Amino acid sequence: MALLALGMMLMYSAELTLIVVISVALYAALRWIFYQPLRIASQERLILAAKENTHFVETVRAIVPLKLFGRETERKARWQNLKQDVVNRDARTEKLTILIKAANSTIIGLQGLIVFYIGAGLVLRNALTVGMLMAFISYAATFAGRMVSLVDMLINLKMLGLHAERLSDIVLEPAEPTITWESDLSRISPSITLRDVKFRYADGEPWILDGVNLHIPAGQSVALVGPSGCGKTTMCKILLGLLAPTEGEVMVDGIPIRQLGLQAYRKLVGTVMQDDVLLAGSIIDNISFFDSRCEYAGVARCARLAAVHEEIAAMPMGYQTLVGDMGSSLSGGQKQRILLARALYKSPKVLALDEATSHLDIQNEQLVNAALSAMALTRIMVAHRPETINSADRVVGINGGKMHELRPAPLVI
Ligand SMILES: Nc1ncnc2c1ncn2[C@@H]1O[C@H](COP(=O)(O)OP(=O)(O)OP(=O)(O)O)[C@@H](O)[C@H]1O
Ligand SMILES: [Mg+2]
Repeated sequence: MALLALGMMLMYSAELTLIVVISVALYAALRWIFYQPLRIASQERLILAAKENTHFVETVRAIVPLKLFGRETERKARWQNLKQDVVNRDARTEKLTILIKAANSTIIGLQGLIVFYIGAGLVLRNALTVGMLMAFISYAATFAGRMVSLVDMLINLKMLGLHAERLSDIVLEPAEPTITWESDLSRISPSITLRDVKFRYADGEPWILDGVNLHIPAGQSVALVGPSGCGKTTMCKILLGLLAPTEGEVMVDGIPIRQLGLQAYRKLVGTVMQDDVLLAGSIIDNISFFDSRCEYAGVARCARLAAVHEEIAAMPMGYQTLVGDMGSSLSGGQKQRILLARALYKSPKVLALDEATSHLDIQNEQLVNAALSAMALTRIMVAHRPETINSADRVVGINGGKMHELRPAPLVI
């Protein structure tokens, strides 16, 4: 439309067209000058709003400790300050926008006046008729309007980059490789081997694991012990392919897990992590992990193995009881046993439990350990309690990044 209008304007008067083009170019230059300050303002606003949002969500999540430590007033005041920063920033951005709008009106208004003045001269000199001048002014309005929208659009498009940049951390992170294992997964024997595994969270940080070699034959249960912070959870995450070893290799049945494909590998593994969570929904949804084809009998069998069936059955709504946000309506021990039932529902060949029974009473823990021992599973259990450690075939300890065999598995002849 802008090009069409420009062509028509040129047919009437090149002189008047030049004035209109200059005015549009002036507006574009003005937007360009204001682009950087506006970009900085928008960037600051994004950061401030993100801080305010994080603070708010964190406050809601941590409302219990905030009440217990009597910190509600300070926390609220801090949130108000953050909110105020966002509003102030908005006001400054709005001032810039008003300035740009005012400049636009001035430029376009002046352009109209000049076109009228020179156009009237041309009419007096009979270079144009009044009708031609009116037609020109109408085309000029179309041209200027479209060009201003185009410039605004281009600026907005460049501004989008700002939001895209903030997402770059997530978007540019390489995805886990999706390798599909062609052969039958059921033929894989669940023996796990760590070969010369070294791991640290970043360059220059101390090694958490410093050359670990471990072979867990299929069906063996291993208790992983060691002081807090020695790297037991890190070791579990490496075993599960959540963290890639800095050096060395993790293998299942002699096949490196990267070659097998992490998705295929995880089909073989059931897990309860140290900070695992339930999702909002019913207990049956959580145990089956929202499997639409789940059957009650399968869910109840896993709940029995995890020694939680009776407690669920005694609830007024039974397996349809809602667990609330992140399982907030359940006790710590119930949550852990439901997480365990969820891990078993996958029918895994390997079970990795990171302090999965730490909230259980001794009796329930014994029930769970006995049920798990009766299953032909390769088990890796991180534990501190002697009852759980004793239920394992073998005990290994981590200390200073090295692995020590504390109680080897008994010889089977
Ligand atoms: N995401 C992370 N980034 C950097 N360092 C980390 C990270 N997670 C853990 N660490 C560090 O790695 C070390 C091992 O942590 P890890 O969670 O494996 O310990 P742990 O043996 O499971 O302890 P606990 O018995 O208390 O659960 C700790 O010193 C911890 O500070
Ligand atoms: Mg841990």
